[in-house]
Amino acid sequence: MPHYIIQPAGRAGGDLRVPGDKSISHRALMLGSVAEGTTEVRGFLESEDCLATMQAMRAMGVRIEQPLPGELRVHGVGLRGLRQAGHALDLGNSGTAMRLMTGLLSGQAFGSELIGDASLMKRPMERVAVPLRLMGARIDTDQGHPPVRIGGGAALQGIHYTMPVASAQVKSAILLAGLYARGATTLIEPGITRDHTERMLQSFGCPVEAAHGEVRLAPVERLVGRSLEVPGDFSSAAFFMVAGSIAGGTGLTLRGVGVNPTRTGLLDILALMGADLRLVNHRSAGAEPVADIEVRPARLRGIHVPEALVPLAIDEFPALFIAAACAQGETRVTGAGELRVKESDRIAVMAEGLAALGVACEVLPEGIRIQGRAAAASDQAAVFSGGTIDSHGDHRIAMSFAVAGLRANAAIRIADVANVATSFPDFPAIARAAGLNLQAVS
Ligand code: S3P
Repeated sequence: MPHYIIQPAGRAGGDLRVPGDKSISHRALMLGSVAEGTTEVRGFLESEDCLATMQAMRAMGVRIEQPLPGELRVHGVGLRGLRQAGHALDLGNSGTAMRLMTGLLSGQAFGSELIGDASLMKRPMERVAVPLRLMGARIDTDQGHPPVRIGGGAALQGIHYTMPVASAQVKSAILLAGLYARGATTLIEPGITRDHTERMLQSFGCPVEAAHGEVRLAPVERLVGRSLEVPGDFSSAAFFMVAGSIAGGTGLTLRGVGVNPTRTGLLDILALMGADLRLVNHRSAGAEPVADIEVRPARLRGIHVPEALVPLAIDEFPALFIAAACAQGETRVTGAGELRVKESDRIAVMAEGLAALGVACEVLPEGIRIQGRAAAASDQAAVFSGGTIDSHGDHRIAMSFAVAGLRANAAIRIADVANVATSFPDFPAIARAAGLNLQAVS
């Protein structure tokens, strides 16, 4: 099985560029496919998750060209131009692809079936099925899990829906179904979540209003294809924000990172912990804000992470837990039960890995307490022992423990890393460029 061996290395540095944003790449494919005209995409993330979405759109009759690496030309078929795939759509490891696609396909004239890998087949799907059924969709799950079967020809109605979980995937699934509904759709969010769908719908000509935790979409006759640039993925950059903060060296710079405020909770959390992160060179990539992020080593201190920041940093907790282990004092995370239903149970799997590397932690029902191991006197002393980590097939767990190698006193072996390719195929090369001593063994 593919694994990583990370030898201790104490310094991180470099001028780095991470690949395109996964969430935005999925959305560019889906909206480009049902828009009219051509959508040109630059900076597309060619990872397994996004390629699964691309395959699915092609299977439903969309012509998608890849003129150069990271570039797409999506020949949109219009809102009613998709046609039935001759087989179940396999969305691999991607919860985003499956949930958003469930919304998009609820309003089609034909039926669909969605499947995925062993991890995706265990993930909860009723969170999208319930509101979509309220809209009139016909959806079956297997006791809440995939396969998701969507009946064709349903007449959808707009709804007014209070979401029980703060989830951009649920919000986006409902908005995409709302494109096919009679009347407006209004959602009330219990917390702020990423708003890439709203921004992209706007730029494709569909008005979406968002204010005070309420999002409202009024359906339009057509979406209009356009050119768009995908910024660097903040969630991929996060590993290097932590690396640059916990390691010695002069610091590192991350270029062209998406800094949509609904994604950057980690910046606020690390700042509360005493990190030295600076955003410079602000610009925009179409509807999304972009900046370079400068990271310098810092002495971190443990904190109680404010619960309001949890949905704004939802994918960054595995990396944050590594920073917490390198801080002085305890870090406590609460109100983060959603971490248990990601690609793995990220609370349990991170706790198991931290313990394997000698870090004391206590699992809470919806969070964790981590005892930071930084010694007051020494900035860059080792805090992790060597050991073996089982990533449980979770890409972000694998990459987070790779970063721990910067503060380890012996080799860390990370098993089951193939799924890093779902979000960040170039991770080993970029990690080495940043100073990690990482060997990828296939
Ligand atoms: C995503 C939303 C989040 C996030 C996932 C990507 C998206 O999931 O964890 O990696 O692209 O909408 P939830 O909506 O389940 O929180």
